[in-house]
Amino acid sequence: MTVAAADAFTARHGAAPSGVWFAPGRVNLIGEHTDYNDGFVLPFALPHRAVVAAAPASGPVSRVRSAQEPSVAEFTAASVVPGDVDGWAAYVAGTCWAFREAGYPVGEVELELDSDVPVGAGLSSSAAVECAVGVALAGLAGVEVDPTELARIARRAENEFVGAPTGGMDQMAAVHGRAGRLVFLDTRDDTVELVPFDLPAHGCTLLVIDTRAPHAHAGGEYGARRRDCEEAAAALGVPALRDASLADVERLADDRVRRRARHVVSENERVLEVVRRLRDAVDPRAIGPLLDASHTSMRDDFEITVPHVDVAVAAARDGGALGARMTGGGFGGCVIALVPATATAAVSASVERAFADRGWTAPVVFPGTPSDGAGRLA
Ligand code: GLA
Repeated sequence: MTVAAADAFTARHGAAPSGVWFAPGRVNLIGEHTDYNDGFVLPFALPHRAVVAAAPASGPVSRVRSAQEPSVAEFTAASVVPGDVDGWAAYVAGTCWAFREAGYPVGEVELELDSDVPVGAGLSSSAAVECAVGVALAGLAGVEVDPTELARIARRAENEFVGAPTGGMDQMAAVHGRAGRLVFLDTRDDTVELVPFDLPAHGCTLLVIDTRAPHAHAGGEYGARRRDCEEAAAALGVPALRDASLADVERLADDRVRRRARHVVSENERVLEVVRRLRDAVDPRAIGPLLDASHTSMRDDFEITVPHVDVAVAAARDGGALGARMTGGGFGGCVIALVPATATAAVSASVERAFADRGWTAPVVFPGTPSDGAGRLA
């Protein structure tokens, strides 16, 4: 990849940045809406990245520019608090705030941001920005910050500064991702195990299909799902749905709450089963039916899919996928499909045809390759 952010910085300031840092977007292989239930997730980092070129500012104000935005954002990193900055720059200012709140020194910065993580596609473009800014702040301050602590700082920016009530999966994937590995995360204590995921060795590919479906009401619906899960856990008398069994769930009186809880509890079991199969070095094709079951559960029990993603999943299977599911928070975004390498063209064509038949915007299909997490580029 080019380091356009560094070139932009140098052109603007007449001097090179102090450093260039990055953090990636992510795809979740399986484990959806389990992270705020103390459960298990299995994401990996994408090759798509947010890149930050930065240097200490000479004056008392921080200035942030983005290759994707026309405006310049200004704030005082040493004193910025939630509510001071909104829009795209809130991810940057929020990370400055959370980094400071964690007790680290934060000076004013000149910062150029550039990202090729698709926005609004459920690939965690916001976590990529937060984590890239986090590693940049650590680098500028000359402090070592443990990756899990950095992810927690970035999540705090998302939750408390931006105001999105998300779990911690995206930021953990952005810092812990490794080429050829899945990030198996227990969100109860943030334990991470890197699980080998070498699909090419087994003649397979994981296709990411960006449905480009309009994201409708995603924010409010996400919060509503969280509340249903909390209600279920409270009714069952457990700290979190992670602690409930499928038999427990069937005791819940309210039909909607029962279905929400059934998704979370069964999804946790599917994550553990996928990890077991991959650890045992079974052919990764064996996980296909678990991806399918995850999608059905999200569609029927958790009710977070939309027609674009259901059609993409069905068309991918028709085209020869071994398993397919929506990935990410839902209400649009991306589908992943496990595909024999010989069938990638047929699967793409099948999804493209299904979308064209309905008069929908063409999807964007690319291979999802597990890649490295946040770090320094230059
Ligand atoms: C979004 C959130 C994550 C997670 C997923 C659903 O990506 O940011 O924390 O809850 O949705 O699995």
